[in-house]
Amino acid sequence: MRPDQKNAYVSMLCGGDAYVPGAEALGRSLAATKTPYPKVLLVTSDVTEASRAVLAGQGWQIREVAPIPNPHPDRGLLFARFGNTFTKLRVWGLTDFDKVVFLDADTIVVQNVDDLFARPAFAAAPDFFVPDRFNSGVMVLDPSAETYAAIMKALQGSLSYDGGDQGFLNEFFTNWYAMPVGNRLPAGYNMHHFILQFLVAHPSLRPMAKEARIIHYTLQKPWLTPTLAGGSELWWKVYYGIHPEAEQPWHRSIHALEDWSFDRLVGALIG
Ligand code: GLC
Ligand code: MN
Repeated sequence: MRPDQKNAYVSMLCGGDAYVPGAEALGRSLAATKTPYPKVLLVTSDVTEASRAVLAGQGWQIREVAPIPNPHPDRGLLFARFGNTFTKLRVWGLTDFDKVVFLDADTIVVQNVDDLFARPAFAAAPDFFVPDRFNSGVMVLDPSAETYAAIMKALQGSLSYDGGDQGFLNEFFTNWYAMPVGNRLPAGYNMHHFILQFLVAHPSLRPMAKEARIIHYTLQKPWLTPTLAGGSELWWKVYYGIHPEAEQPWHRSIHALEDWSFDRLVGALIG
């Protein structure tokens, strides 16, 4: 890494305040890693002033961006919430930074990941359900006017297998799986919460759980669902650090029960 390389962690909120608790927890988790790099939060105009003030108070640099509408809203979305995730692509426009680590607002960092800034761009980790596609919740990229323009151009004719940014980006960086090893992040840099739970629940797999550096709550968001399949206690631990008033004994019992139920379900499925 060049000594003068300008680095930043970037996340995004769009479509209102629903993911504000996620950004709060992510910011808190990053601070706990003692990273020297700034945290930049892209927000669309529908994220309230009150939330922006709270997040700015927690160390996020807030930058407003215009939303990028889904280019093909008529095509199938895997989940309705994928409708506005294309706004994430604005991160390539942050050309005042040389290298960005983009983190979805539904992630938390559990070990320092500053080593990601020494990675080549583009870099990402495999997705869980089709491992030769990457998951777009954690990405190492070099902002660039040229790439940004190419992305915006490609967007118009694009196909996206999930209807969101991830399907599109896998088309755009279509050779990702065949890129040099530096461009392929180990799975621990984007560990899906239910996989973490699976590793933790089984004594023989437990050592692998230590490889988790970034936990990604891909399916259920801890702050949006009282029931959650895996890894939720870790997220709540971070969140309680900012909002001790949210800590309720019933919360803890529910999480313990949910995690246990998930393990039992997997046990029943695989025998
Ligand atoms: C997946 C990814 C997320 C992405 C979404 C839409 O949920 O984890 O990062 O925004 O797909 O493509
Ligand atoms: Mn996500």
